Amino acid sequence: MRSLRTDELRQLYLDFFKSKGHTVIPSASLIPENDPTVLFTTAGMHPLVPYLMGEKHPSGTRLTDVQKCVRTGDIDEVGDSSHCTFFEMLGNWSLGDYFKQESIAWSWEFLTSEEWLGIDKDRLYFTCFEGDKDAPRDTVAHDRWVEMGVDPSHIFYLKKKHNWWGPAGMTGPCGPDTEIFYDTGKEKCSPYCNPACSCGKYLEIWNNVFMEYNKLGEGKFEPLSQKNVDTGMGLDRTVATLQGVESVYDTDAFTEILAAISRLSGKNYKDSAETVKAFRIIADHIRCATFILGDHRGVTPSNVDQGYILRRLIRRAIRYAMQLEMPQDSLKEVANAVIEKYGKFYTELVENSEKITAELSREELRFQKTLKNGIREFERIKTTFADNKIDGASAFRLYDTFGFPIEFTLEMATENGLTVDVEGFHAAFEEHQKKSQAGASQRFKGGLADTGEATARLHTATHLMQAALRKVLGNGVAQRGSNITEERLRFDFSFERKMTKEEIEETEKLVNEAIQADVPIICEELPIDEARASGAIGLFGDKYGERVKVYTMGEYSKEICGGPHASRTGELGTFKIKKEEASSAGVRRIKAVLIK
Ligand code: ALA
Repeated sequence: MRSLRTDELRQLYLDFFKSKGHTVIPSASLIPENDPTVLFTTAGMHPLVPYLMGEKHPSGTRLTDVQKCVRTGDIDEVGDSSHCTFFEMLGNWSLGDYFKQESIAWSWEFLTSEEWLGIDKDRLYFTCFEGDKDAPRDTVAHDRWVEMGVDPSHIFYLKKKHNWWGPAGMTGPCGPDTEIFYDTGKEKCSPYCNPACSCGKYLEIWNNVFMEYNKLGEGKFEPLSQKNVDTGMGLDRTVATLQGVESVYDTDAFTEILAAISRLSGKNYKDSAETVKAFRIIADHIRCATFILGDHRGVTPSNVDQGYILRRLIRRAIRYAMQLEMPQDSLKEVANAVIEKYGKFYTELVENSEKITAELSREELRFQKTLKNGIREFERIKTTFADNKIDGASAFRLYDTFGFPIEFTLEMATENGLTVDVEGFHAAFEEHQKKSQAGASQRFKGGLADTGEATARLHTATHLMQAALRKVLGNGVAQRGSNITEERLRFDFSFERKMTKEEIEETEKLVNEAIQADVPIICEELPIDEARASGAIGLFGDKYGERVKVYTMGEYSKEICGGPHASRTGELGTFKIKKEEASSAGVRRIKAVLIK
């Protein structure tokens, strides 16, 4: 077996699938575009849902990539040997091209051939779907593994719970899968121990999903128009296997990050069980925060949605940094170690490094101010509760006055043998929101209404600009991100090179023509496939069967969107591009304004 470093496995995987006719596509944003059902991209297939459903992908029918992913469902488990909130998923896809035969043969070749990973065949175990009322037993996958030379005693048929993947949201593409496990050589935990067991003997390293079904809202499955393959291999986990180490934190991915924590805290990672846990939490959470902040659609800490998760990650890291007695404002140094390690592949981290460190500093200083007082407050009140249960009002005070995310209070409570009235917390929270919303609508009446109109106009201009860019630069242009303030629009799109002066002027001209034509902006609600058939552009998300809003501006633009928009193009004023620059590899960024 070859012992590979993280960078090497990433490259080898892409090279292997390139040699099998796949096109390497860039990692999509961590923040899903036009998919309000999930906060973060959780799997390589997520950005590819429209193409798994049948839309044509500009790069063809065989794709491969390494996708940055965030899963926060297990955030409380971080600190053990295997859980991480951020991870990279290596994947390859067939969009209605090859199916089980090739997929299995190539996984086998990549894993076992000396030229690639050279894993000992006897160490590999496999699971296949046993079949139920929705889909038959996957004997095809089973028999293909046997043809590869796998001993049938290494193949297990399991239920849907284990061997069915997707959809990513409530509905969409899914199917039976075959999973590949590496036997660590540990003793079986019982005579029944098999790859489905979580004792740690068998590690899942790769999942090949045969996506031939579409799950509908009512829990029914219908065949998809095309048969796809979607695979996912956890990069860190496979590197740990290849490097023969017990934990992903012991791979080269974390070496420099843990060293930075050690330097800053003056402690060693393996000093004690407490330091191991604290080092891992800080390393994982700051790696994840760095990727969220540094994403080309990156967000900043806040109290809602992705910003809240980001805040939780940073604040939890701060608490453990305090436990290790790291100096104040040192998390940015940990982030620098992350940027150093990953910036070559994820160039957006380098481009956004100032933003990353500045935001971390800001959040750390903001929280440090109240954290000590909050902990003191917690210590003071912790013995005062009936039934050892922190009441909702107190939990809300810790949140509102001291900035403790509720999960943070829960964690501290557990450590102190207390529980928390979470419902009471939410009730206090809603009460507070009602009051502040009343305040906000007062302010709105006071003349701030214009703000909404300014952003709606800029948002409308973004549609016209995207349509113009596609005319000037070709249909390869697709939205990668959009951010609008009262003053300007910012739009990220896929395109390989700097735009010429002529191209910029032509784009401005086309947008201004559409504005001068003063066409009405018409909104229709259509089923998603009709929207697509009508030629509307925009990402389709994974909520199939649902109706979407399509905004049409005369002949100029037709796009799926949620709004808000101006009512006629003539309201926009004069459109001017202020800046065109690189955003990340293969992605350009335009900043533009509307002049009244
Ligand atoms: N989408 C599959 C997974 O996430 C490959 O495991």
